[in-house]
Amino acid sequence: MALQIEVELSNRRYPIIIGQGLLCDPNVWTSCITGNEVLIITNSTLAGLYLARCQAALANHRCHTVVLPDGEQHKNWNTLNIIFDALMEQRFSRDVTLVALGGGVIGDMTGFAAACYQRGVPFVQVPTTLLAQVDSSVGGKTGINHPLGKNMIGAFYQPKAVLMDIDTLATLPAREYAAGLAEVVKYGLIYDSDFFDWLEFNISKILAKDTTTLMEMIARCCNIKAEVVAQDELETTGLRAILNLGHTFGHAIEAVMGYGEVLHGEAVAIGMVLALKLSVQQKRLDSSVLARTQLWLMQVGLPTTLPTSDVEALFAAMQHDKKKWASQLRLILLDRLGHAIVVAVTPEAIKLFLTAEVHHVEE
Ligand SMILES: NC(=O)c1ccc[n+]([C@@H]2O[C@H](COP(=O)([O-])OP(=O)(O)OC[C@H]3O[C@@H](n4cnc5c(N)ncnc54)[C@H](O)[C@@H]3O)[C@@H](O)[C@H]2O)c1
Repeated sequence: MALQIEVELSNRRYPIIIGQGLLCDPNVWTSCITGNEVLIITNSTLAGLYLARCQAALANHRCHTVVLPDGEQHKNWNTLNIIFDALMEQRFSRDVTLVALGGGVIGDMTGFAAACYQRGVPFVQVPTTLLAQVDSSVGGKTGINHPLGKNMIGAFYQPKAVLMDIDTLATLPAREYAAGLAEVVKYGLIYDSDFFDWLEFNISKILAKDTTTLMEMIARCCNIKAEVVAQDELETTGLRAILNLGHTFGHAIEAVMGYGEVLHGEAVAIGMVLALKLSVQQKRLDSSVLARTQLWLMQVGLPTTLPTSDVEALFAAMQHDKKKWASQLRLILLDRLGHAIVVAVTPEAIKLFLTAEVHHVEE
């Protein structure tokens, strides 16, 4: 069984295919790849798990592989160059398709390499983490980190197709799975209250990774992301910003705690709770939405409180966030379940809020 969702952009469209056993199916690959040349980019963890089945299914192509070191700390120029070295050494033409087999780190780097090599070659996203399936592989944001800032070097570059084999989630560590669920519940909060209700109702099946439930959950997330991206592909109208619920707080938490210490999804979970608290405090949102969200996040094993009491450091990190309006911070808040708004908040108000939150946690 496979589901297909179309991402409709102004001048092109591409499919997201969600199913089981897709990586082993040569026909699925053929439907996503136009030329005969393929370079698979993966990491040392995924290579041992899923590379062989992809290579077997691509046996009719001229197929090479690059295995990169695993980890966010390798999402940089040096690692990107390993991809370019392979493309040049193997004399790949403009017809080559790059395949990103991995989580968001591999997807972001491969997409950026595809955007740059010979000014743009096709690429296919094959996301293997829940976070990459519901978020990073859809929407065309690609890039790498700079020592002075995360995701600061990059390009908007859309894949030719996204191939999601949910069998890969069987080997995903529990902590990484939970981190992906933070992005899942985000869609219910910002866009679709029925989906939030569905997530509450199906929590046991979600935790048990029930196949049908996973397919429906991932498809609903992709549909929402595709709909938002279709309306604001290059983040110009502001709609796409709602996808950043919890991210301004979350990025600050990641930066202060050290990348890798707190996973991106974990930081977003805490950030969403803070954004909802602020929404309630500003009398925009009913407190029951906050309570339901906190409960759901805790049930799936995600943190909901600040892991540090260093308000100054958090505040400084928030000031570096890209989403700023003049001297005010642009935050995504909720005015009801399923509906997000963009609100300008003064730095003083943020500082007061964080200080009160830290005292509340310490009590
Ligand atoms: N482009 C976007 O729109 C966007 C959106 C959100 C996040 N991101 C980026 O995504 C990255 C985070 O992505 P992530 O959470 O997927 O992390 P990740 O790519 O680092 O993967 C997490 C870990 O899980 C391992 N792994 C992946 N799939 C596995 C599987 N099926 N079985 C066993 N292990 C597996 C990886 O090797 C890695 O160790 C960050 O760099 C973030 O900036 C990008």
